[in-house]
Amino acid sequence: MSGGNDVIISDSIVNDFVIKEGFSDILLEWYKKSRRILPWREDPSPYHVWLSEIMLQQTRVEAVRDHYLRFVGRLPDIRSLAEAPEDVYLKLWEGLGYYSRARNLHRAARIITEEYGGEMPGTSSALIKLPGIGPYTAAAIASIAFGEASPAVDGNLLRIFARLTRFEGNIRTPDALRAATSFYRERMPEAAAAESSENPCGDFNQALMDLGAVVCLPNAKPDCEGCPLAKHCRAHREMSGMESSLPVRPGPKERKTEYLTVFLIRCGERTAVVKRPAGGLLAGLYEFPNAKGELDDESAVKWLRDHFVEPIRILRTIDAEHVFTHKIWKMRGYEVIADPFTEKDIPYLMADREEILTRYSIPSAFGAYLDML
Ligand code: ADE
Repeated sequence: MSGGNDVIISDSIVNDFVIKEGFSDILLEWYKKSRRILPWREDPSPYHVWLSEIMLQQTRVEAVRDHYLRFVGRLPDIRSLAEAPEDVYLKLWEGLGYYSRARNLHRAARIITEEYGGEMPGTSSALIKLPGIGPYTAAAIASIAFGEASPAVDGNLLRIFARLTRFEGNIRTPDALRAATSFYRERMPEAAAAESSENPCGDFNQALMDLGAVVCLPNAKPDCEGCPLAKHCRAHREMSGMESSLPVRPGPKERKTEYLTVFLIRCGERTAVVKRPAGGLLAGLYEFPNAKGELDDESAVKWLRDHFVEPIRILRTIDAEHVFTHKIWKMRGYEVIADPFTEKDIPYLMADREEILTRYSIPSAFGAYLDML
């Protein structure tokens, strides 16, 4: 938006092209009729809103729904989350990925219990001090659970902003975020009085979330015909048919590829699993024993013997791939039938299928091998 000290295009010049008066009325009217029915909307307590927002950070609504219900079924409030053992809340998180979110949730629950008497703080400025809560999440919780007039600007709201205002700069910059935040702030309704049962600010943010999820879709799929703001949208008015060329994003980041050899070591009905180290990627979760690199049969046997496993039979099985944000794992699999371990030389936990599925959180990166249990 700004060019150093020289050319400064103020946010309000760009933003003034799109209606201000009536903007929130149109949106709230649309939301009343078209809002998605989602479990955390039924009782938007601070805990429910917080949990759903953390789950939704990197995961689609459809994948979150069942996890959310299972999680609140087992840990129904902040105190029960604060008291839950690591293996319990990580197991409930299984399938959602990005496990640091679950750890931060737990840390924050303990802080809320110890420092706030179990009551979630009710302003974005207090919320943002808790682990795992950034500006977007703080604004989402503060607006939806407490009625605060703070726009919660995530990727969806940035996309809608870029199209409404025909913002053609790089959307992944602090300037774009600042411009979008002030654009929405200028159009947000006032917070309702404390005794009111209405929550126009929370509804405003959620209306935009729904608009981004079902109408103003990314890539080539916006449904401009179904959009309540179409006639106020600069991209629609001025570049009809080309709305999806906005927002402008830089190309995707290069991801590093890492090669791994994964072993499904069987001993009768049981298969070996091992806890990952306490720090780093997928910390503290469980995994199948694995080695760096793509080992051929001979090196695989050597690796197993170096790790106290005497293979009776070893077979190449499926290869798999998992894409993380910053890296890709390419995995070569071996299924190994091993001699029974004696108690003293067991380097792994040996568990049957049922136990692995119910007790140990194995990240979805190993999903292809989990399916073979
Ligand atoms: N995405 C992020 N937060 C959301 C919410 N509260 N409702 C729907 N989608 C969302």
